[in-house]
Amino acid sequence: MKLYYSPASPYVRKVRVFAMETGLMDDIELAEVTITPVGPDAELCADNPIGKIPTLVRDDGGALYDSRVICEYLDGLHGGARMFPENEDERWTALRRQALADGILDAAVNTRYETFLRPRELRWPDWVDGQMTKVRRSLDEVEGESLGDGADIGTISVACALGYLDFRYPDEGWRDSRPTLAAWFEKFAARPSMSETGPR
Ligand code: BEZ
Repeated sequence: MKLYYSPASPYVRKVRVFAMETGLMDDIELAEVTITPVGPDAELCADNPIGKIPTLVRDDGGALYDSRVICEYLDGLHGGARMFPENEDERWTALRRQALADGILDAAVNTRYETFLRPRELRWPDWVDGQMTKVRRSLDEVEGESLGDGADIGTISVACALGYLDFRYPDEGWRDSRPTLAAWFEKFAARPSMSETGPR
């Protein structure tokens, strides 16, 4: 399988962490692309008209996207415990956490584009405030959760969102008022799947 990727993308990191946790990374070849919202990659667009990463090209040539769909596909390819839990309560908890973490990422990445890529004269400070308020409110919600010691699609997503905040928002200080989440992340970030996929 081929995974279009960039080492900075937190959505790609989700897939890579997932693949490492499930022992599938050896089956995946990484194809690096450099893209921005205004600078697409032609080969990637031929496989995914949205032009976004991660995109996974399966061995039969069919493409899958986005990170949620790819991770669910990969979960059907390994023989270990499901990372999309089968137990109904656990499944909805994990899926909700994935949605919350991806929402944090969407807001943080949108803010990154607005403050880094968008021409200065076109920037909209109130919109940035609105996005970062989503991030902070969502982190407060996660602070109240018992994330446990295991890896599933929910905890992997949360960890990748926190890793992205550390990468692009080192001055945000998200740990200051969220000690439970900070302690959880310190442990989770020590997993080889996380330490070997750090953004750059
Ligand atoms: C970033 O450089 O912050 C970034 C790269 C790819 C996807 C999202 C964010």
